[in-house]
Amino acid sequence: TICPVILCGGAGTRLWPLSRKSYPKQFAQLLGRESLFQGTVRRMAEAGFAAPLAITGEDFRFIVTEQLAAVEQVARATLIEPQPRNTAPAILAAAFWLRESDPDALMLVAPSDHVIPDTPAFRARVEAAIPAARAGTLVSFGVTPTRPETGYGYLALTPEADPQGVAPQPLAGFVEKPDAARAAQMLTEGRFLWNAGIFLFSVKALIAAFSRHAPDLMEPVAGAVAQSQADLGFTRLAAEPWAQARDISVDYAIMEKAENLAAVPLTAHWSDLGGWEAVWQESGPDGQGNVVSGHALAQDCRDTLLRSEAEGLELVGIGLDNIVAVAMKDAVLVARKDRAQEVKDAVATLKAQG
Ligand code: GDD
Ligand code: MG
Repeated sequence: TICPVILCGGAGTRLWPLSRKSYPKQFAQLLGRESLFQGTVRRMAEAGFAAPLAITGEDFRFIVTEQLAAVEQVARATLIEPQPRNTAPAILAAAFWLRESDPDALMLVAPSDHVIPDTPAFRARVEAAIPAARAGTLVSFGVTPTRPETGYGYLALTPEADPQGVAPQPLAGFVEKPDAARAAQMLTEGRFLWNAGIFLFSVKALIAAFSRHAPDLMEPVAGAVAQSQADLGFTRLAAEPWAQARDISVDYAIMEKAENLAAVPLTAHWSDLGGWEAVWQESGPDGQGNVVSGHALAQDCRDTLLRSEAEGLELVGIGLDNIVAVAMKDAVLVARKDRAQEVKDAVATLKAQG
């Protein structure tokens, strides 16, 4: 079986003020009525995979339950992390949990913060990855890069690989979040794909990779799963062993180190909605390039995103060009659209100021 493992414990700040510490972007209705998390779960169900394992933080557990119920989906289980430790411990916990009932399972690890509109294409790409994953290869899904993005991982194809191939392509390496110079160099060289953040692993191969490349995580995470407790439909990982687990992403802990890697080019539209400019793009701007939602009005504006989420708060833009304005009941962002990424620095400043 293919068991989707949906990572939904992150707390992104680049979509502030919509994405908040208590209500991060994967749960917000960024594009239409469905949250990105709900979209991810629905995509997995429509693709015919088994009920997903969700893994999230203490603070988000009821959001997960509510949002699953709202789209009439059930999780196979929802694992709760006592504290966030990034994606490596989360994925390893899912692997140990699955091993107990389903040691031969394949796990389709998926972030909950991206969009892939074409489900049949996605399903076909996952199916193409199955034989390699069964054979113990760690398979990632690649996207053709279009800019020297420093927020992504890069998959280095071998000289023999076909960047548009339908079969899994051999990889020479994995570079997580390069600096700007290295990213530009990889883009010029070609032969690199962006890591979509989706992986197909066999439970066995993944646990073997951790024991080799991140052995310090084995005991704390195995202990947290072995001593986990059922609580109101959640599986609560044990806090004491979990606290000993290092905070690290799977990209740094495993993918940068492992040698048994392959990539399946996704060849379907993919976006991780990494900032307001991406949300603007994915929302399908109107003839003037505007995206207007909630209680907002754009008058003589161009290439602008206006969004008011606050009950009874009207947001009006006049004569704007290349602006993002997002109003919540307790916070308002106004930024140049091409600089809206810098909101993460502003959030850090606000946090430092208390
Ligand atoms: N359960 C859990 N616990 N989930 C987490 C945690 C955690 O501690 N931290 C992050 N996540 C979830 C996020 O909610 C998101 O759905 C997913 O894991 C990926 O985490 P991000 O923090 O969004 O990672 P990233 O965007 O910086 O980088 C990853 O994704 C890129 C593509 O979007 C990497 O895999 C990159 O290599 C990749 O290019
Ligand atoms: Mg992300």
